[in-house]
Parts: sequence; structure tokens; C-alpha cells
Amino acid sequence: MKYQPIGVFDSGYGGLTVLKEIIADMPQYDYLYLGDNARAPYGTRSFETVYEYTLQCVKWFFEQDCSLVILACNTASAKALRTIQQNDLQHIDPSKRVLGVIRPTSEIIGQYTKSGHVGIMGTAGTVQSDSYRIEIEKFFPSVTVSQEACPIWVPLVENNEYASPGADYFVKKHIDQLLQKDSDIDTILLACTHYPLLLDKILQYVPGNVSVITQGKIVAASLLDYLHRHPELEARCSKNAKREFYTTGETADFNNHASIFFGKEIHSQKLML
Ligand code: DGL
Repeated sequence: MKYQPIGVFDSGYGGLTVLKEIIADMPQYDYLYLGDNARAPYGTRSFETVYEYTLQCVKWFFEQDCSLVILACNTASAKALRTIQQNDLQHIDPSKRVLGVIRPTSEIIGQYTKSGHVGIMGTAGTVQSDSYRIEIEKFFPSVTVSQEACPIWVPLVENNEYASPGADYFVKKHIDQLLQKDSDIDTILLACTHYPLLLDKILQYVPGNVSVITQGKIVAASLLDYLHRHPELEARCSKNAKREFYTTGETADFNNHASIFFGKEIHSQKLML
């Protein structure tokens, strides 16, 4: 069968926290990962810029024969996914699919909360888009959603400072600010695929009655279900358990950092866009 990997995209390293869980559930498929590290972070960029960069990367995946691309990035899912799905795909190739991470997470997050009050922590772009509030409202209309943008968190992670003492100040600050918005929050969603790296610190500053949810396993379970429901697309995903990693940044840096996110050694290749 022709090599047709599943594409997994993020602005940088964060999507690797999702890919790791996808591979744990579905090791048989071929996966092609692209981190646009040279242009990360996306979280503080405009709608137009995130859309332009994401579309450019999606087209690259299609040129590599991917039939299915996962935007393992909340910011790209919030700012680019809908336009790509509704406008671009029909011109490029209507048989291809691009999926994001906001919908699968919103579909399930209401099941975690007992108080009915959920906190969303994400990039400025994700929070400003209001995508989570809009999506969660569709599935759980009685759930109250409060959001907190944490613009420093991604740079802390991308610059390998997530475990440093300096990170504590910014982690605590944003958790306190979120909980001040709604003290009934009992469930916090880390709505950025970079944030699982900060999980140890986040747990130090979150009260014991509040659960912290990461997206990797949720997105993996949703993809598994999607492939079951779309056998024609599933049949177009090749199965040699091959993994390839590309970065638009420096491969040496990527290899050093990416293994921390992925939990295994990575040898990346450079992509010039
Ligand atoms: N990891 C991405 C997300 O989930 C975005 C990080 C960024 O580039 O700002 O939102």
C-alpha cells in the first residue's frame, strides 16, 4: 500500500503530547509530525496569520500524501480549522480531512465537572476566539465556562524553562486569576497542547478539589472513534508503524526538546517553508 501517513501538526512541540497518546492507542499507523517551531508561538499572532501559516502547513501534509491531518494545536484549531474545513478543502481535495482538538475536548469536558463550573486555560488566541465557550455550550448548556489566557506559558515551555523556579510565579498567577473569576470551578482544562509539560507545577497551585484535565488521551480516543466511523478514510491511512518528524526550526534544538514531550528519542528533518 502507498505510504499515506496521518499528519499531526502543531506550532511547535506541544502536539507531541497528543501524538504520544495517539500512538499509544493506534500504533499501527504511519505518522508524520510537523512543528512550525520557526514561527512559534502562534498564540499571540493574529487570526489571519495563524490561518495563513496553518493552511500552508496543511498543504504540505497533503503534498506528502496525508489523507488525514490532525491540528494538535488549540490555537490553530480555534483560528484556522473552520475556514480550512469549510472553504479550502473543497478547492484543494474534498476527499481529505482536517480535524482539530477543540471539538473532541468540548464534547466530553462536561462529564468531568460536578459543580458545573469549568475553567479553560489557553493561549490568548484560543481564549479570544471564545471557541471553547461556544462549543461547550452546544454539548453542556448548563455548564459555566471561565477562561484565562496564559501568554507566558508557551514561551516557558518552548524555551525549556517549564521546570525552572521562575515558572512558578507565572503558573500560580494565572491559576489564581482563573479561580478568582469563578470560585466554583472544580475542573480545569489545559486547552493548549504545550501545557502538560507544566502539569507538575500547575498541580502544586491548584486546590485539591479541582481536577486538571489534559487533552492527549481525549483526542486519541476521539480519533480512534472517528476512524471506526469512517472506514473509507481509515483504509487510506497506511500501516507500517513508521514515524517521521519535521520542524521548520533547528533540528538539533528540536531533537533535544522534543524527546521530553514525546518520551522517546526523536531525529527530526528540516522543512523550509
Ligand atoms: N500548542 C498550541 C496550542 O495548543 C499553541 C502554542 C502556541 O504556539 O502559542 O494552543
